[in-house]
Amino acid sequence: MENDCKIVLNTGLRGVTIANTRICEVDGKNGRLIYRGYMIQDLAQASYEEVVHLLLHEYLPMAEELQPYRLRLAAEREMPTPVIAALRTCPPKALPMDILQAAVPMLANFDPDIADSSREAALRVAHRLVAKFPTIIAAWHRIRGGLDPVAPSPELGHAANFLYMLNGRAPEETAVRAIDTALVLHAEHAFNASTFAAREVASTQAHMYAAVAAGVGSLSGALHGGANAKVMQMLLKLGSPDHVADFVHAELDAGRKIFGLGHAVYNVDDPRAHILAPMSKALGERTGNPRWYEMSTLIEKTAKEIFRQRKNADIPVNVDFYSASLYYYLGIPVDLFTPVFAIARVAGWAAHVIEEQFGGAASKPVLYRPESEYVGDYCGPEVCEFVPLEKRRKG
Ligand SMILES: CC(C)(COP(=O)(O)OP(=O)(O)OC[C@H]1O[C@@H](n2cnc3c(N)ncnc32)[C@H](O)[C@@H]1OP(=O)(O)O)[C@@H](O)C(=O)NCCC(=O)NCCS
Repeated sequence: MENDCKIVLNTGLRGVTIANTRICEVDGKNGRLIYRGYMIQDLAQASYEEVVHLLLHEYLPMAEELQPYRLRLAAEREMPTPVIAALRTCPPKALPMDILQAAVPMLANFDPDIADSSREAALRVAHRLVAKFPTIIAAWHRIRGGLDPVAPSPELGHAANFLYMLNGRAPEETAVRAIDTALVLHAEHAFNASTFAAREVASTQAHMYAAVAAGVGSLSGALHGGANAKVMQMLLKLGSPDHVADFVHAELDAGRKIFGLGHAVYNVDDPRAHILAPMSKALGERTGNPRWYEMSTLIEKTAKEIFRQRKNADIPVNVDFYSASLYYYLGIPVDLFTPVFAIARVAGWAAHVIEEQFGGAASKPVLYRPESEYVGDYCGPEVCEFVPLEKRRKG
């Protein structure tokens, strides 16, 4: 009887609402992104620490709360020495997202709250993770280059300290502001693939490190957070605006995806791209090398024209498109683009893990458990006859 009513949705969950959340709204029709009641365009004026506070504590901090909050995060930046030692054993060619994904559960072993299943402990763990993500990435970048990691500086804000640990020198204010804004823009995006992965793991009552490690793995894929590096690789391969039109035509003719374009939820442009594009433009002008920004605009324009002609539809530009040239202008190595995304998104994942485990939105069954339709046709409609190993023959 149950099976008679079974509905099979071969949709990859597109358009299927599976839970309530108070954290974030992605309004794909109108191109609106809201974190806990605030429009992303407004939050772009705030610092990353303010947005972390908003995501984890559900309100923007008061002026007198912000400095103590910054210090609280700064106090959690150091990585345990054995974790740094473990990073030193990895081959320098290891992918930074793999290093990040491996380091996260290692940190669990050093967390004094790991056996505490209270909401207060989860919040403390969330702050540790947010604080340590930049340290992991910067330490790995130094180690793979044969250098010693730079100890975090408690005097610097989250964004400035990341650049300082990465490069070993005090960053310029323009770079700090650009990274800070990029972190704000990437901090949260509702039930995207990596957040869903984190929430799914959290729904089993696994701890936050396990859930966040799953999020990192999901984000590493080229169709998700890995797209920003792919965009830059495309720009570098093209090298100049002269080849853009031919390239875009050839890619679309061959049915290949252009990274940084298209979105599973937005039908119109991602609002974050409209904030990042002028930032990339400004940095291009400031560095005297507007080429990467200009090529990006040309790719976007050409792809949109072709889409309109061929499909009578728009292809939206997504967050990864202009963050690529922006990070490149800031001197961030291309294979650290996606880790920078993770440094921002860990705040969103942590907020979702807490919501999943401690509520905050309307309740749903505790565990995610979708079903699937079995279409295995190995032995026709029947099950296969089991043949003992010694009697099995090919063909
Ligand atoms: C993000 C993405 C996976 C969303 O996928 P989706 O919602 O499943 O959309 P679909 O793949 O079904 O795309 C719908 C149509 O637009 C086309 N399309 C979508 N994104 C495209 C892109 N980046 N380049 C070219 N064509 C694209 C698809 O080929 C499809 O065409 P069809 O209807 O003729 O088959 C997809 O747009 C993509 O792969 N983009 C590039 C990777 C990227 O930038 N990812 C970061 C997302 S924030």
